[in-house]
Amino acid sequence: MNYYIMTLFPEMFPGIMDASILGRGGEKGLIRWETFNIRDYTLDKHSKVDDYPYGGGAGMVMQAEPVYRCYQAVCERIGRKPKRVICLTPQGKVFDQSVAQELAAEEDLVFLCGHYEGIDERVLEEIVTDPVSLGDYVLTGGELPAMVMVDAISRLVPGVLGNGDSADTESFSDGLLEYPQYTRPAEILGRKVPEVLLSGHHEKIEIWRREKSLERTRKYRPDLYQRWKEKQE
Ligand code: ADE
Repeated sequence: MNYYIMTLFPEMFPGIMDASILGRGGEKGLIRWETFNIRDYTLDKHSKVDDYPYGGGAGMVMQAEPVYRCYQAVCERIGRKPKRVICLTPQGKVFDQSVAQELAAEEDLVFLCGHYEGIDERVLEEIVTDPVSLGDYVLTGGELPAMVMVDAISRLVPGVLGNGDSADTESFSDGLLEYPQYTRPAEILGRKVPEVLLSGHHEKIEIWRREKSLERTRKYRPDLYQRWKEKQE
């Protein structure tokens, strides 16, 4: 998987992208990532990349030209027009596990990280295939959401997770939240591990875990619980 990230803040990426499981995926050659600094593509003599919004209003808008020239540099690097160009914005489709799964099947993913009050709509119309939001809140920029997406997508790329890490008994794989986990010692802070998990009785353990999954989903995510129930009918 190759990630090409267009951003005004490339320095935000290495700490996250080179650590832990993503870092290992990079070392194994399963993930490649590269940032493109949008400011490097402005023709303005003061390196300006934003301007006042037509029609008035607060804040600044990212100009179309540096973004488009940056995109052209990405196209040149890939050797063709990318199939998917994702723009991180609260105005997009909400990211979830099924979107992560769909994107993990691609070879190249391009991310456009916005800042200020937005990006000139004309360049978005020209290059963006997928406007994506992380949720109903407003962040200062698209960099953190891009990294969240890269993390969620990369762990679905075959070989990125080690044998010890599992991608299928986890939250959302069947539309439910995951059951609680415990490890040694068997008692700490005056709290014991539920007896059934020490029993070695696999069937009972499975039933207990299922019950806990359902209980949690009903409590914290009634929306998911409702969808799961409708699917059972
Ligand atoms: N940029 C600012 N807020 C965002 C959000 N919620 N999701 C994706 N990109 C964003």
